[in-house]
Amino acid sequence: MLQCQQRVNKLLDTHLDQDIPSQTLRDAMIYACVGGAKRIRPALVYGSAQAVDTELDRADHAACAVELIHSYSLVHDDLPVMDDDDLRRGKPSLHKAFDEATAILVGDALQSLAFQLLAKPIPALSEEIQLRMVQLLAEAAGPKGMVGGQALDFELTGQSIDLDTLETMHKSKTGAIIRASVQLGALCKPSVSAEQLSALDKYGECIGLAFQIQDDILDVTAETKILGKPKGSDERLEKPTYVSLLGLDASHIRANELKEQALDSLTLFLDNANLLRELAAHIIDRPH
Ligand code: IPE
Ligand code: IPE
Ligand code: MG
Ligand code: MG
Ligand code: MG
Repeated sequence: MLQCQQRVNKLLDTHLDQDIPSQTLRDAMIYACVGGAKRIRPALVYGSAQAVDTELDRADHAACAVELIHSYSLVHDDLPVMDDDDLRRGKPSLHKAFDEATAILVGDALQSLAFQLLAKPIPALSEEIQLRMVQLLAEAAGPKGMVGGQALDFELTGQSIDLDTLETMHKSKTGAIIRASVQLGALCKPSVSAEQLSALDKYGECIGLAFQIQDDILDVTAETKILGKPKGSDERLEKPTYVSLLGLDASHIRANELKEQALDSLTLFLDNANLLRELAAHIIDRPH
């Protein structure tokens, strides 16, 4: 996992080191993406590429793209009109370190950069496969996925909702990009089978939801200093979460069930899938 983090950190440094007209935008894009991040989504891209036994360098652009989309989503998520959080990844949120207009523009810029990278020709992959990858990430990031989930999150704030609605929200706002990360890694092997893709999709779906359940748990149980973002933000905003609906114990149990289901879906893979197994465990044990 550490190797994946280091690999994507290096790549992001290179891709963000661009000559662009606004020095402020450039600095802010780097601020949003560099430092304090766990890089779980890129690790999932690499883990999945490894599971289907393909070269990791083919997965580099996809690994960067998912992290760029994710980092953009965090910058917008923290804005005063959204969650209004002042701390992110252990530093002042982007709109605090810069300003709100820059935060909006950074999100826009990171999203474009993600797709620019993902669409860059890779000799080992056909145009058809790359187009499929672009479509997959666009769908996961857009109104049917992350943005749709964020809209639901915004609309449902302060309301009491049922578990099905909460699950739909979590699967879209957080699960969609995680699920796409797993699929993108596997698509780097052109001969990947439908059976492998479907097993990995089940894995991605389970850990995607488990990831947000653990995020809801940590909002209550972890300290701000460790979290790198304000503890208790969900309660302050009256967000419906797993913890507010089910309580802590049942949330832990549900996250654990999902981890087990994720691991079960990997049975057709041998040791190649060990990074994915490690990530499934880490997602629900992580301290921040
Ligand atoms: C936080 O994601 C936002 C959610 C989708 C729950 P991470 O916990 O992966 O945040 P970083 O990237 O490590 O900061
Ligand atoms: C955010 O969920 C999901 C995103 C798409 C950014 P949260 O609002 O719970 O994420 P944190 O807790 O601020 O990282
Ligand atoms: Mg939010
Ligand atoms: Mg938030
Ligand atoms: Mg949260």
